[in-house]
Amino acid sequence: MSRLAEAKVALIGGTGALGFGLAVRLAKAYAVTIGSRTLPRAAEAAVKATDLARMRVEARTSAEAAAWCDIAILAVPDLPSPDFLGSLAPSLKGKLVISPIVPMVMKDGFFAISLPGESAAERVANALPGARVAGAFHTVPAAKLVKLDQELAYDVLVTADSERVFAEVARVVSSVGKLRPLYAGPLVATRLVEAITPALINVSRLNKIGSPSIKLV
Ligand SMILES: NC(=O)c1ccc[n+]([C@@H]2O[C@H](COP(=O)([O-])OP(=O)(O)OC[C@H]3O[C@@H](n4cnc5c(N)ncnc54)[C@H](OP(=O)(O)O)[C@@H]3O)[C@@H](O)[C@H]2O)c1
Repeated sequence: MSRLAEAKVALIGGTGALGFGLAVRLAKAYAVTIGSRTLPRAAEAAVKATDLARMRVEARTSAEAAAWCDIAILAVPDLPSPDFLGSLAPSLKGKLVISPIVPMVMKDGFFAISLPGESAAERVANALPGARVAGAFHTVPAAKLVKLDQELAYDVLVTADSERVFAEVARVVSSVGKLRPLYAGPLVATRLVEAITPALINVSRLNKIGSPSIKLV
C-alpha cells in the first residue's frame, strides 16, 4: 500500500503505549520511526508495529529519530528531564514537535494535574528553542489506537501559537482514524487541555467507562 504523505514522523518514546499506537496508525500516511533510548527496544516495538499496521515502521534511537524526522511526537512520560530534551534540541530545531504529554499525579485517590499554572508543552517549548511546539492527542486512549477496527471518531484539542502550526498538526491528527482536530488556542492554553485527561480518567474510574475520549456536540 502506498503512503499519502512524504513527511517523516518520529515517535520519541514509541516503545510506550501511546507512541506505539500512534506509530501503527500514522504508518498508513507517513514514513514512521519508533524512537527509544535503546535501539533494541525500538527494534522490538517496530517489528510489532509493522506486523499490526502492515506497513513498515522503522526503529532508531530517540536521538537518531529526532535527527531523521520532519515531525516529532514526544510520547514520553510527564516532565522528561531537561537533559533528555536538551540532547534532542539541536536536531529538532526548525521542526514540528507535538506534545501529548499529560503531567499527572494521584492525590487523595484522584488523578490531578502535577504542574498547576504551567504545562508540559510549554516546558517542552522552552527546552527546544527554534522548534514549532504544539499540543495534541492528550485525550486519545492508546488502548483504542491499536484496535484498528475502531473508527476513533473523537475530537482532538490542538494548541499552537499560530494558525500555520495548527494547520500542520491538524493534518497529522486527521490522518488517524476519524479524529477531528479542533483549535484550542495558543500553547499557553495547553494548561487547560492537559487537565482534561486526569478528569476523564477519574470519570472513567468512577463510572466504569473503559478508555474514554471526548467529542464535542
Ligand atoms: N497511554 C495513553 O493512553 C495516553 C493517552 C494520551 C496521552 N498520553 C501521554 O503520552 C505520554 C506517553 O504515554 P505512555 O503511556 O506511552 O507512556 P510510557 O509508556 O510511560 O512511556 C513511553 C516511553 O517513554 C520513554 N521514557 C520513559 N522514561 C523516560 C525518560 N525519563 N526520559 C525519556 N524517555 C523516557 C520509554 O521509552 P524507552 O525506554 O524505550 O526510551 C517509554 O516506553 C505521557 O506523557 C502520557 O501522559 C498517554
